[in-house]
Amino acid sequence: MSSSAVIYARENHARFLEELKALLRIPSISTLPEHKDDCRKAAQFVAAELRRMGMEHVRLIETEGHPLVYGDCLHAAAKPTALVYGHYDVQPPDPLDEWHSPPFEPTERNGNLYARGAVDDKGQVWAQVKALESLLAANHALPINVRVLFEGEEEVGGEGIANYVASKPSDLKADFALVSDTELFAPGLPTLCVGLRGMIYTEIEVRGAKTDLHSGMYGGAAPNPFVALAQIIAKLKDEKGHILVPGFYDSIVPPSKGELAAWRSLPFDEEEYRKSEVGAKQLVGEQGYSVLERTWARPTLDVHGMPGGFTGAGAKTVIPAKATAKVSMRLVPGMTPAKTFALYKSYVEKIAPPGVDVDVRLIHTGDACLIPVDNQYIQAATRALHEVWGRDTVFIRSGGSIPIVGDFDRHLGVPSVMMGFGLPDDNLHAPNEKFNLKNFELGIESLIRFMEEAAV
Ligand code: BES
Ligand code: MN
Ligand code: MN
Repeated sequence: MSSSAVIYARENHARFLEELKALLRIPSISTLPEHKDDCRKAAQFVAAELRRMGMEHVRLIETEGHPLVYGDCLHAAAKPTALVYGHYDVQPPDPLDEWHSPPFEPTERNGNLYARGAVDDKGQVWAQVKALESLLAANHALPINVRVLFEGEEEVGGEGIANYVASKPSDLKADFALVSDTELFAPGLPTLCVGLRGMIYTEIEVRGAKTDLHSGMYGGAAPNPFVALAQIIAKLKDEKGHILVPGFYDSIVPPSKGELAAWRSLPFDEEEYRKSEVGAKQLVGEQGYSVLERTWARPTLDVHGMPGGFTGAGAKTVIPAKATAKVSMRLVPGMTPAKTFALYKSYVEKIAPPGVDVDVRLIHTGDACLIPVDNQYIQAATRALHEVWGRDTVFIRSGGSIPIVGDFDRHLGVPSVMMGFGLPDDNLHAPNEKFNLKNFELGIESLIRFMEEAAV
């Protein structure tokens, strides 16, 4: 059955796609200060469209960082209220020379749209917006009540939205959240994500001498902060992938037997994953856990970069005065950011070698979350997905983090329906990010049908 809103979406698809391209041309990179105005431009672009479509009370909500976009339409008496969430900010596009077309010039190639933010998350935000437009245009009303709340700081920890949700819960009264920022487990396989890892993102700064020194004159006597940092990092995790911070694993709640059994029946080929998705000669990680367990239900620790010292072309003989490392940990249910950070900080301070000072700083955090699946909204979602994709929905977790989802539960008391349409090879955060055009189209139809089913 195709509703009149679905028919409207099909008839207007070409325009929807051109609009998405216009949004993707705005380089709204939340972490780079020089793109602050672009973030605001992207927020205004989305807000203007919500207003044009007939959403009400549309406004930018200022935060200490980038603005939130809010709008509502609350005229479906006795029907549930959805809080529709996504993010308009994107990750930096580097390394630029690996892109086959410029990151902020969206380009269609073999059934995909390539651009930074195509799938994470502008394409999915646009799918939500266009689902709402289709419903409004076809019926002059929405089947359920809707509040839209988009943020521009998801990729940097989402502090602005977290403060807003914590301080103004009465402005966001809803029955469930609809989050479109996740992916299908495999092409054509309708998927709901029901668990995310949390994270703590940290920076370790090591200082040695009072200034950079000639490495010939002082080498052998002056402490080297990079060597000290390497020694610290080498003690964080052993060669089997086990994190060595005392107490790190103590409070983990493992997945249930039922969940593990369901994961084993997912169509997953480890060798194919190693070759095509990861592209490394061997996978690593904790023994005794499958890849899905390791990436969805086990914590991990990664080093993202070690800024400082000499990194130019050629050689410079210097002992740098300081070195830093960006280190993050992914957390799973049972672990809390505050306790994990405290354990990690005191361990790093303890293992620091002699002769250097160490600062361990917390940049941002997010809680892990697990979504209850025994509610009418998840059921409505599976009905809608079955109709559009012709198959039963699989329930998966994801190793990524969306910090606000835990807050929706804690502060608003609402469960989230994480219905996203990315694919595992969409290159999120990497060069040549893409959104499959068919998924954009069926994503819009799924979201339309979901809102219609949520009213039943
Ligand atoms: N959309 C991703 C998270 C994600 C990726 C969920 C794949 C499901 C599947 C999100 O935009 C993201 O990248 N989050 C950051 C959050 C962090 C900066 C706090 C992440 O996971 O690194
Ligand atoms: Mn995202
Ligand atoms: Mn992201």
